[in-house]
Amino acid sequence: NLRKIVIAIDGYSACGKSTTAKEVAKILGYKYIDSGAMYRAVTYYFLEHYVSLSNPKEIEAALNKIKITFHVNDDMETETFLDGLKIEKEIRKMRISDNVSQVSAIKPVRLAMVKQQRQLGREKGVVMDGRDIGTVVFPDAELKVFMTADMQVRAFRRQQELLQSDKMVDLVEVMENIHMRDQIDTTRVESPLRKAEGAIEINTTHITIDEQVDAVVQLAINRILAPQLPG
Ligand code: CDP
Ligand code: CDP
Repeated sequence: NLRKIVIAIDGYSACGKSTTAKEVAKILGYKYIDSGAMYRAVTYYFLEHYVSLSNPKEIEAALNKIKITFHVNDDMETETFLDGLKIEKEIRKMRISDNVSQVSAIKPVRLAMVKQQRQLGREKGVVMDGRDIGTVVFPDAELKVFMTADMQVRAFRRQQELLQSDKMVDLVEVMENIHMRDQIDTTRVESPLRKAEGAIEINTTHITIDEQVDAVVQLAINRILAPQLPG
């Protein structure tokens, strides 16, 4: 029996992390977990319920109530649910993107999400993408990937994606949002975005999704077949 591994994919926004992670999970028969969707779901709840980001009591009460779950639909797409309500479409909107990095910088929010993420990956055989998966959530992950790409390319890809799902947004707005999130995500005190020790960097500026997927699958197979060190 081949061993199951944990694959952690971190990096900046719109480098192709989630598209790659989903495909790699499908190929390997692994579970895919979108950790960013969890922070987006928390942000959605905070906005809907006017939770004040400067009120620890309100934040704690909200975190105790929120229940985030994932469901794979008939088209094999993973959908995010909050308290039993499908919010997959809502959490991809700019309203959420404009607030998610501020919410994600809050320590109790991170503690609650990391706990759930570890639980979701406890049996291994999982591909998880985000900002702190290789550094904090699974520091012992057998494979860690760190994705980068040029800002213009990332903004263009994200805008095209939003337009395809009928969300009108101009390139400048997308670029501003990505730039702001990069800034907050890399400089926050709690689990800032950085390349984990031992992570393999993939610059996706000039490569296709298929090439990204091939690269990660190859790395994964090498890790799965690698002889395990004793102890
Ligand atoms: O897909 P995109 O890069 O737009 O973002 P995402 O993966 O959905 O993550 C949205 C935001 O959640 C990020 O900008 C981070 O602020 C936060 N996040 C985080 O702090 N830690 C994670 N493991 C995943 C996301
Ligand atoms: O998860 P992350 O924010 O890193 O990126 P993503 O949501 O997987 O990718 C953002 C968009 O860029 C998607 O529409 C991808 O199909 C596209 N993309 C691409 O066209 N070529 C690549 N090499 C990587 C991503």
